[in-house]
Amino acid sequence: MKIAMVGSGYVGLVSGACFADFGHDVVCIDKDPAKIDSLRAGIMPIFEPGLAELVTSNARSGRLSFTTDLAAGIAGAAAIFIAVGTPSRRGDGHADLSFVYAVAEEIGQHLTNDAVVVTKSTVPVGTGDEVERILSEAGLTVKFAVASNPEFLREGAAIDDFKHPDRIVIGTEDEWARSLMREVYRPLFLNKSPILFTSRRTSELIKYAANAFLAVKITFINEMADLCEKVGADVQDVSRGIGMDGRIGAKFLHAGPGYGGSCFPKDTLALLKTAEDYEAPTRIVEAVVKVNDARKRAMGRKVIDALGGADAARGKKVAMLGLTFKPNTDDMRDSPAIAIALALADAGVAVAAYDPEGMELAAPLMPGVEMKANAYAAIDGADACVIVTEWDAFRALDFARVKGLMNAPVLVDLRNIYDPAEVRAMGFAYSSVGRV
Ligand code: UGA
Repeated sequence: MKIAMVGSGYVGLVSGACFADFGHDVVCIDKDPAKIDSLRAGIMPIFEPGLAELVTSNARSGRLSFTTDLAAGIAGAAAIFIAVGTPSRRGDGHADLSFVYAVAEEIGQHLTNDAVVVTKSTVPVGTGDEVERILSEAGLTVKFAVASNPEFLREGAAIDDFKHPDRIVIGTEDEWARSLMREVYRPLFLNKSPILFTSRRTSELIKYAANAFLAVKITFINEMADLCEKVGADVQDVSRGIGMDGRIGAKFLHAGPGYGGSCFPKDTLALLKTAEDYEAPTRIVEAVVKVNDARKRAMGRKVIDALGGADAARGKKVAMLGLTFKPNTDDMRDSPAIAIALALADAGVAVAAYDPEGMELAAPLMPGVEMKANAYAAIDGADACVIVTEWDAFRALDFARVKGLMNAPVLVDLRNIYDPAEVRAMGFAYSSVGRV
């Protein structure tokens, strides 16, 4: 089957490459000629493990191609996916749908064969109705249907998530569209990945509800972590203790510096806006957004406390290990590292940092922070070291070397990657999240 993927960003590129790997004939379309040129040359616009190999091997086999020409790209495609960005709109936090609607208009101008138009971008409830209206008003003479098919890919694990999904959600009541989507996902269907067919509006809401629920889960355990610190309990054991209950589930119960990234912050905000518009407020999500925002700066205060308080901290130097919102990505969007670096700068603390992939994107977001070539260079001469992102590279630091390089052996582990007793036994003043 020929598939067109409009938008060759994170979601479009991963999905397009995986569909090609399933054996479909995929054209990835993007307005940005520089991006298309580099993709043709095998250079990825983002860092995602395994993506470069998947793209180049499928391009070489002729199943995956790239173009800036939407009309040519969608010609003959039975399924046309819209996978463009839906950033938070400046000023009011609603999802900005201008890119989605512009693509729908363009599809309406150029569609010359029967096709199912599928929204993969994360879009508020009702967006599919609007895409359908745009296409209906384009005076098309061919048959079309509009479906919703949200993505549940995690950055850093996107290919595996695509190929081994917990579920595939397809929102359309049109029987023709349903059977075409079954064909699109046939290899996964054969693999017994569950496919859930719903109405289009339900499918659109499932995406937001899933991300909001995960944000709630993380924020809940983060608040439990704060309570653990006060009462002398251990949050990792609390997570285990509640996670073993099948009704709760063990995943997404890692306490840390607060969630970031391109999805949870934007999607929780957009859900609040939808809820407000429909006068059905989602107060739990409102609280989660507030608590998570405040937490990131509070982590800066935690580091200042480890330095002995505000007065003692002024003029000191902190090493930050990890800047991206999570490991295995170069994504800095809404990373807790930004708020922590700003809080430290406001307190007169100098910061040297190292991140395996994120420094280029991080530098403009945290002016004044010195970017270093490796963890030990960042640690050199520091009065405290804070682990912000749990990259594997930080999981086995040479503590004797670290201690020798630091001005004072103070370690703040915001991802709980070390055992407190072991680190303290090596002479460090050690603090973490939700453990005493
Ligand atoms: C998230 C969802 O997990 C995906 O299912 C979804 O498709 C994606 O958003 C999206 O909407 O596109 P992602 O943002 O890539 O994926 O990253 P996650 O692994 O979910 O992590 C998000 C944030 O939560 C990170 O800052 C991470 O450090 C934090 N987190 C996650 C915790 O603090 N604790 C946890 O237990 C899990």
